[in-house]
Amino acid sequence: MFVVCAIALLCLMSASHSAPMVCEKLLQPLDELHPHRFEGKWALVAGSLDHNKSMEALRLRDSITMYFSNSSEASTVSYTQVNRFGDLCQYLRYNISVRGSTFNFDVGDRFNLSGAFLYTSCPDCLVMLWNVKSQRRVSTDMYLLSRRREVEQKEMQEFRDQLTCDQLPIPVMMDPTKELCPEESESQSPTAATVPIQETTATQSAQ
Ligand SMILES: *[C@@H]1O[C@H](CO)[C@@H](O)[C@H](O)[C@H]1NC(C)=O
Ligand SMILES: *[C@@H]1O[C@H](CO)[C@@H](O)[C@H](O)[C@H]1NC(C)=O
Ligand SMILES: *[C@@H]1O[C@H](CO)[C@@H](O)[C@H](O)[C@H]1NC(C)=O
Ligand SMILES: *[C@@H]1O[C@H](CO)[C@@H](O)[C@H](O)[C@H]1NC(C)=O
Repeated sequence: MFVVCAIALLCLMSASHSAPMVCEKLLQPLDELHPHRFEGKWALVAGSLDHNKSMEALRLRDSITMYFSNSSEASTVSYTQVNRFGDLCQYLRYNISVRGSTFNFDVGDRFNLSGAFLYTSCPDCLVMLWNVKSQRRVSTDMYLLSRRREVEQKEMQEFRDQLTCDQLPIPVMMDPTKELCPEESESQSPTAATVPIQETTATQSAQ
């Protein structure tokens, strides 16, 4: 009897311990940011954040492309995000300071956006965690980026588990059939519009 209880207790303990341990791994920031790991073009596959209005704003985007490129200064990376709304392409450019495994958007006093790249087992994905603090929005955001437009089911499940660990809502899934915008803003083109970055952040007005 004692043995059965001991085993039952052990099982209970291991069950209650497994979730936090899995979450610890899933929410682990990457040890180091190797610029070549995240340089280049990425498509947003899914995203979630604990701010309703911004989540709704994310749903309105047909596609989101993100570019990281190293600048002349090693600790600075330039970040360009291109949001598609129907025929409109919105280009947002930021400089990001990288320190260890975390980064900060260099936007002066307009808002605070810091974050980290998290663990992912998907070979051509990035999982990006953002902490946004501004007058209008305080949120934790998590984004799944990939070189592909769609990821495998098990890769998506891992991202969903990451969201659950951080108590974030069911993600907005981007429609992979919607075109990505071209890389550079063609300012003469009637279908392209550049919106000043003061008016919006990546997923919603953060200021
Ligand atoms: C967020 O949106 C959901 C669904 O639209 C709604 O049920 C919920 O009450 C909203 N929460 C807040 C805090 O507005
Ligand atoms: C980015 O880094 C690579 C390798 O470190 C270097 O060859 C390249 O010139 C850099 N690009 C810019 C724009 O600095
Ligand atoms: C990024 O940094 C470079 C070099 O310091 C600067 O020329 C550029 O204007 C900055 N871009 C933005 C969007 O702040
Ligand atoms: C950003 O953070 C700094 C330091 O914590 C604070 O002084 C500043 O007011 C913050 N800005 C906004 C817009 O929240």
